[in-house]
Amino acid sequence: MTAVPKSRILGTGHYTPARVVSNFDLEKVVDTSDAWIAERTGIRRRHYAADDEVTSDMAAAAGRQALEAAGLNVADLDMIIVGTISGDTPMPACAVHVQQKLGADGIPAFDISAACAGFVYGITIADQFIATGAATCVLIIGVELLSRLMNWQDRTTCVLFGDGAGAVVLGPAKGDGRGILSTRIFTDGSLAGALQIPGGGSNEPLTAEGLERKRNKVHMSGSEVFKVAIKNLTSASTLALKAAGLTSKELDWVVAHQANLRIITQVSDRLGFPLEKFILNIEEYGNTSSASIPIALDEGVRDGRIQPGQSVLLCALGAGISWGAAIVRM
Ligand code: ACO
Repeated sequence: MTAVPKSRILGTGHYTPARVVSNFDLEKVVDTSDAWIAERTGIRRRHYAADDEVTSDMAAAAGRQALEAAGLNVADLDMIIVGTISGDTPMPACAVHVQQKLGADGIPAFDISAACAGFVYGITIADQFIATGAATCVLIIGVELLSRLMNWQDRTTCVLFGDGAGAVVLGPAKGDGRGILSTRIFTDGSLAGALQIPGGGSNEPLTAEGLERKRNKVHMSGSEVFKVAIKNLTSASTLALKAAGLTSKELDWVVAHQANLRIITQVSDRLGFPLEKFILNIEEYGNTSSASIPIALDEGVRDGRIQPGQSVLLCALGAGISWGAAIVRM
């Protein structure tokens, strides 16, 4: 039996910065090639924030667009959740700056630190607040400004990531079957070291030597994450489908985290769901971490591929390792 949703998506939006950096541009920065990046990842370009842009600027722009699509005002919101690991400042939360930029004074605003899974964690939490009646209108934003967290001497990582923001507004379901049918989230802390920013926290306060060794930048064991990603994205998606009371054959679209086209292809094979039905934008934006799902979701909605009443699987995995999946009837 299909699950009965408690919350539904009222509007979606996204923002990607204007500055486009191609693989050819990166050939001038590190020892890499367009052919290597495109073949191994599917990435051809990524967008980087302007020097005077900060994370909350992008988040607020995406949030405003989602509110507009929902036909709502900032005053209608009663909560802001931001999934990010690259906020304006280590403290306070990025959501605090977003709240101020939107003029949403007084409502709770907080960050979720689940890296690439941040958006799926965010809608899971918002869905719970709405299901209990504790909130009626929640803005969830996935945003990253990762170009400032790259080690430009590490070609294995710096070519992969981009900047951007995506957002959805969630409100109560109307009893017509549309909404969040299921969510499933997971973490395996034993793999924390596979993808991390090792310096800058209580474990390794930053020193001049740490800065020199780029300990405040993203470090990743790509092949380790790669294998786990295929396995865990498939299992979480299968569990979310089961909880929603659907099979993969009943899905209309999959919006998977855009980290690597080879990961997405293998998940497509394992789920028995065709790649043509994945909303893909990795070629244009690279890996925008928590922003990648809401950006792709909004693109699919705006260009008319995703239609009201269709069933969409969202799935993501990132640092933690944290991962999750959700089934949404749009
Ligand atoms: N250009 C040219 N050569 C490169 C580059 C590059 N940019 N990067 C690595 N290479 C080389 C390596 O040095 C290595 O050379 P060697 O064999 O001489 O040692 C060779 O290419 C193969 O390297 P691998 O790391 O084995 O390449 P792989 O096929 O695994 O691809 C990648 C690397 C793209 C990082 C892949 O492992 C991946 O996508 N991993 C998953 C990433 C992910 O999902 N992250 C989670 C989300 S991110 C988040 O949470 C913030």
